[in-house]
Amino acid sequence: MSTPNLNLIGPGRLGQTLARLWQQAGLVEIAGILGRNSQKTALARDFISAGTVVDWSDLRPADLILLATPDDALAHTVDQLAASQTLRSGNIVFHCSGALSSECLAPLRQQGIAIASIHPLKSFARPELAVTDFSRTYCAYEGDACALAKLLPLFTDIGGQCFPVDAANKTLYHAGAVLGCNALVALMHAALQSMAAAGVPQDIAWPALRPLIDGTLANLDRLGPTGALTGPVMRGDAQTVARQHAALNMLDPQLAEVYAALGKLTLRLANLPGAQQESMLSALKN
Ligand SMILES: NC(=O)c1ccc[n+]([C@@H]2O[C@H](COP(=O)([O-])OP(=O)(O)OC[C@H]3O[C@@H](n4cnc5c(N)ncnc54)[C@H](OP(=O)(O)O)[C@@H]3O)[C@@H](O)[C@H]2O)c1
Repeated sequence: MSTPNLNLIGPGRLGQTLARLWQQAGLVEIAGILGRNSQKTALARDFISAGTVVDWSDLRPADLILLATPDDALAHTVDQLAASQTLRSGNIVFHCSGALSSECLAPLRQQGIAIASIHPLKSFARPELAVTDFSRTYCAYEGDACALAKLLPLFTDIGGQCFPVDAANKTLYHAGAVLGCNALVALMHAALQSMAAAGVPQDIAWPALRPLIDGTLANLDRLGPTGALTGPVMRGDAQTVARQHAALNMLDPQLAEVYAALGKLTLRLANLPGAQQESMLSALKN
């Protein structure tokens, strides 16, 4: 079977990373690379070490087309691709968004195109790093079976671990990823703000918190959320919780709101007897 060729529309962080990994592994031939800015697109081409910088007027047909523009630009990119007269029946168009399902590509089906979405659960902050640690990334897929049959090997052959996701529930799926990843960053920032206000030096606060967090993650691995839970809410120490809540309220009411919201979620896991639950809830009230 001959190696499929691939057009990359949107050579940003994710697009460059995957294109370089696939090209290096001999899984695809990178054909056209289309971005908004020709200088940046040329740099992406150099990083991928293959392909030709093109615009919509000189884009040629390809077996596979990856749309890796930002999510908000995807609908417009689909319209541009549909109008480009480069699509051939049997081509596969896919995107890698976690927030959108493959249905946003559905208008292309009128041209005999198979569609899919494969979302790597990974932060592609810098392509030069992402190419080194893509292996073992979990990737959530949904879309047309014939498209997935061709696309999944591209991801598994570079170390991806693929699992299906229901297209209709993709928003909730992605909300889970946002809570687990982006919200964690915001939460760590809040923890550091609280430590700083207590006078813990900046160069001590993170190294001190880090082993605590590592231990918690290890406990989550071994024991799951209920077993890993420790701390004042789980112990039923309502007075401690009330004092911490009030101190945070003095420091920054938004931090107190977060503390209270997470405290209530913690309470659901802690399964305290009724009376203790009531005192804990009142400790978490404004
Ligand atoms: N980065 C991640 O961690 C990550 C993880 C999983 C999934 N994803 C998904 O991957 C996709 C791309 O994300 P990204 O982070 O790689 O984005 P990105 O780094 O911002 O790259 C987007 C690329 O698309 C180009 N572009 C923007 N609008 C365009 C248009 N109208 N036509 C042609 N090219 C256009 C941008 O050009 P300019 O450079 O000129 O703006 C850039 O090259 C999104 O669907 C995202 O949800 C990203």
